Amino acid sequence: MNVIKVKNYDEMSEKATELIVNRINTLENPVLGLATGSTPEGLYQRTIKKFEQKEVSFKNVTTFNLDEYVGLDKDDSNSYYYFMNEKLFRHVDIAMDRVHVPNGVAQDLEKECMEHERAIEQAGGIDVQVLGIGGNGHIGFNEPGTSFSSRTHVVDLDESTIQANARFFNSIDDVPTQAVSMGIETIMNSKEILLLVSGEAKADAMAKLLNGEVSEDFPASILKQHENVTVIVDEAALTVAESK
Ligand code: PGA
Repeated sequence: MNVIKVKNYDEMSEKATELIVNRINTLENPVLGLATGSTPEGLYQRTIKKFEQKEVSFKNVTTFNLDEYVGLDKDDSNSYYYFMNEKLFRHVDIAMDRVHVPNGVAQDLEKECMEHERAIEQAGGIDVQVLGIGGNGHIGFNEPGTSFSSRTHVVDLDESTIQANARFFNSIDDVPTQAVSMGIETIMNSKEILLLVSGEAKADAMAKLLNGEVSEDFPASILKQHENVTVIVDEAALTVAESK
């Protein structure tokens, strides 16, 4: 893993934007894997600015999101489709038929998972996958214990994930308990991975990633076996790793 240390969230977002814009401008038909959550918001905001300044276009870009809550329709303000549309898609010139967020209200969720896999394959695979990390080491919604050979699947969310995400809902009881998530092997098949880590809440996870073993008990640890991973991490997220 190529670990880039930065001062703070803004600098992390700035560096991530440089990398993503560079890849979009370099690749003929860029295929991006995208993530939701607080971490990549700064990346999306800056990318929109670059689009407005005509430094990047999404005309030829295809996207695949990591995950979606089961039971939330794309018009639901807590769905990840809605998040992506608000935070990125509706502000840029992307063709919406090239946007792929798993459908969390599909009648047949297994079929929906297979469809996400098939579409990724048909697009030629993901060129660069953006990732955040959960406090428990999850990537996508692949919680601790998920098989490293998993493909897009329906997952039960960890209690810690439900609690962490409750901040977006009226009450914790409203947080879905399941999601559709790309599997770990799906993520590992990306040609390049960009992991963004910011803030003290991620410091324990970051220390485990840097100093711990590769184990299914800590899903992000598999990234150490990928040959093209860039981690952009800020000082607050490094406090535990660097105290060891
Ligand atoms: P966050 O979530 O960016 O909102 O911290 C990251 C994750 O849980 O993967």
